[in-house]
Amino acid sequence: MRFFQVKPAIYYGEDALNQIDNYNFKKVCIATDQGMVQFGLLKLLTDKLDKKGIEYHIFSDIESDPSTEVVEKGLMHIIMKKPDALIALGGGSVIDAAKAIIYYNINFKRIFFEDQYVHKPTFIAIPTTAGTGSEVTEYAVITDKKKNVKIPLTDILMMPDVAILDPKLIESVPPGATAATGMDVMTHAIEAFISTENNPFARCYANKAVELVFRSLHPSYVNGSDLESKSSMQIASCMAGIAFNSAGLGITHSIAHAFGANFHMPHGLANAIVLPYVINFNGQDEKVQHQFARLLSGSGISNISGNSTATLFNKVVSLSESLNIPASLKVFGIPEEDYLKAREEMLDKAMNDICTTTNPVAVTRDSMKMVMDQAYYGV
Ligand SMILES: NC(=O)c1ccc[n+]([C@@H]2O[C@H](COP(=O)([O-])OP(=O)(O)OC[C@H]3O[C@@H](n4cnc5c(N)ncnc54)[C@H](O)[C@@H]3O)[C@@H](O)[C@H]2O)c1
Ligand SMILES: [Fe+2]
Repeated sequence: MRFFQVKPAIYYGEDALNQIDNYNFKKVCIATDQGMVQFGLLKLLTDKLDKKGIEYHIFSDIESDPSTEVVEKGLMHIIMKKPDALIALGGGSVIDAAKAIIYYNINFKRIFFEDQYVHKPTFIAIPTTAGTGSEVTEYAVITDKKKNVKIPLTDILMMPDVAILDPKLIESVPPGATAATGMDVMTHAIEAFISTENNPFARCYANKAVELVFRSLHPSYVNGSDLESKSSMQIASCMAGIAFNSAGLGITHSIAHAFGANFHMPHGLANAIVLPYVINFNGQDEKVQHQFARLLSGSGISNISGNSTATLFNKVVSLSESLNIPASLKVFGIPEEDYLKAREEMLDKAMNDICTTTNPVAVTRDSMKMVMDQAYYGV
């Protein structure tokens, strides 16, 4: 028996933020970051709460790749304030931190109270990047900054109740971040489509996401005010999230997590650099070649050469080039001696990463090292 669930209610398209007007919460906590304050996005939300006279408290200390320390601080905030709703406004980092806060808050309460007395605040995720799909997944990634390790958490408790995708909220994302987060979507969709846990529901969402990214990422990169493309990218991000929440990911993410933890590079950018090399590696497998062929035809891409791996590789590489994404970690600027010094430790991390377990092709330490080297040297 298999299981598939789509949980959050999703409000999307222009003015989706108006959905906030329909709630009558007594007290709200807002988890966010300084970027949301600076770009005026937090004000769009608080204006709405002010208008309704809803009491709110802001926790805006969340940093990129949220640390265990910031989650601890946020946990104290929510324990003290006891809100009936938690709204996460921000990119994947903010949403993941809010998820971890909810996770520890509920599990903390469960130590002292029976389940009937443990109330979970209504959890609303408002993503301000189109990338992680975190608004529809039960995963969160937090970082132990002392050990440079990313810690994955998985629990249905962390699944938001509501996701609000308003394209106006992603208008201010700088082009470089639009490119990186958009390639994160592409990576989620491709990895979910071929993962060992792929299934008809996940494939359907993943395929549509790939089609939308090929169509909308470049326009949304070159014109930040193209709200139609921005909205398509939000939908693609959400669909790819639904797909990988059910099917899991693969070693692009395992390697990107290790690169991200060691070199503090944006998650989407690390994925974008690694993805073509993993397509080549997995695409040597005959079953994966058939899956790539289905993915291409489902996305309206003709596979003229008959070599689905080469076709997908070339399409992804030319999209990356059009977004000015570096072709390798070396071109990105990581010195070779730093890479070689960290390589064994990163290999350990990638081999032990949960995403490695669902990669469609079994990975040895040697093959992981080969792909990692390709992503570093760009060959
Ligand atoms: N939970 C999941 O399923 C999942 C999946 C993939 C990635 N992740 C995690 O998500 C994190 C990455 O998230 P991200 O790529 O969304 O970036 P992010 O949340 O780290 O944000 C990056 C920067 O962009 C700024 N920003 C965000 N929205 C903006 C906007 N509209 N305008 C201007 N600036 C804006 C932020 O303030 C921040 O400085 C990583 O920690 C990664 O591990 C989680
Ligand atoms: Fe990702």
